[in-house]
Amino acid sequence: MFSPTVHTRFIALLGNPLGHSISPPMHNRVFEKLEMDYCYLPVEVTAEDLGTVFAAMKKMNFAGCNVTIPHKLAIMAHLDELDDLAETIGAVNTVRFQNGRSKGFNTDGEGFVRSLQEESGITPKGHRFLLFGCGGATRAIAMTLAAHGAERVMICNRTEAKAEALAEEINRRVRPCATSIACNSKAQLAAAAEAEILVNTTSVGMHPNEDVMPFPEACIEARHVVADIVYNPWMTKLLRTAEEKGAKAVHGLGMLVWQGAAAFQIFTDREADVAVMKEEVEKLRKG
Ligand code: ATR
Repeated sequence: MFSPTVHTRFIALLGNPLGHSISPPMHNRVFEKLEMDYCYLPVEVTAEDLGTVFAAMKKMNFAGCNVTIPHKLAIMAHLDELDDLAETIGAVNTVRFQNGRSKGFNTDGEGFVRSLQEESGITPKGHRFLLFGCGGATRAIAMTLAAHGAERVMICNRTEAKAEALAEEINRRVRPCATSIACNSKAQLAAAAEAEILVNTTSVGMHPNEDVMPFPEACIEARHVVADIVYNPWMTKLLRTAEEKGAKAVHGLGMLVWQGAAAFQIFTDREADVAVMKEEVEKLRKG
C-alpha cells in the first residue's frame, strides 16, 4: 500500500459529489508507473467551504488541484492568476500551485481537441464544426476550437438565446468564426450539410436515458466525424447510429483521458503516460 511521506506532493479533486470520479485512479496509476512521489485524492467540498479548503491546500504540500461540478466558476474568485484561455472560457478545471501562488487553467477543450486528433487525425484549424448544446462543456470546446483556428463553429441549442450569446462572445473575444443555428430540423440539416464534424455536448443519451439522440439522425452523413462527450454509456445511441451510417465515431472517454493528461502536465511538468490512463478508463468502460 502507498504510504505518503512529508515529501509527497498531493493533488486534490474538488467537487461534490465525487463518488464515481475516474480521475483519482487515472492519475494515481500514472504516478505509480512513473515512480513519482505524488498522490491524487478526491475531496468532496461544499460551496461554503471551498475557499477555506483551497487556502489550506496552498499552505500544504499540494502541487495543484482539479476542479469539477459545481465549483468550476466559483474557484476563480480564489486564484492569484488565470491562464488566457481559461479566462475566455470563464471556467477553471485545473489549478497549479507554485511559489505560494495559484494559477487556473481549463483543459476541457484541449482534452476534446487532442482526443479528436487522436481518433480522427483532424486538428481544428480550417475545419467546420457543428456543436449541439450550450453548457459549460460546450463553452470550453467552442472557445478552444476557435482559438485553434477552426474555420466555423456553429452552435445549436434547445434554448436558442444561449447559443446566440455564446456565438457572439466567441466572435468578440476569440475570432469571428461562430454562428448560432436555430433549433429546428430544417436549420440543423442545413448546418450539418455544411459541417465536417458534429459534436454532442449535451447530456442527451447519457445513462439512464440511453435511447435518445441529441439531433435528427438525418443530419449524419458517411463523410462526417461524429463526436460525443457523453461517456456513460461508452457507445451512445448517437455514436452507434453514426457508425451504422459509415461515419467516424469519436468517444467521450477520450476527452476525459486527454483533459486529465493536459492537467497532469500542468501539475508536474512531465508528460502523462496516456496509455496507462486509458487502461484505467477501460476498466470503467467494462464496468
Ligand atoms: P455542462 O455545464 O456540464 O456542460 P449543462 O449546463 O447541464 O451541462 O448543459 C447541458 C446542455 O445540454 C444545455 O445546453 C442544455 O440545453 P438548455 O440550454 O436548453 O438547457 C442541453 N440539454 C440538456 N438536456 C437536453 C435535452 N433533453 N434536449 C436538448 N438539449 C438538452
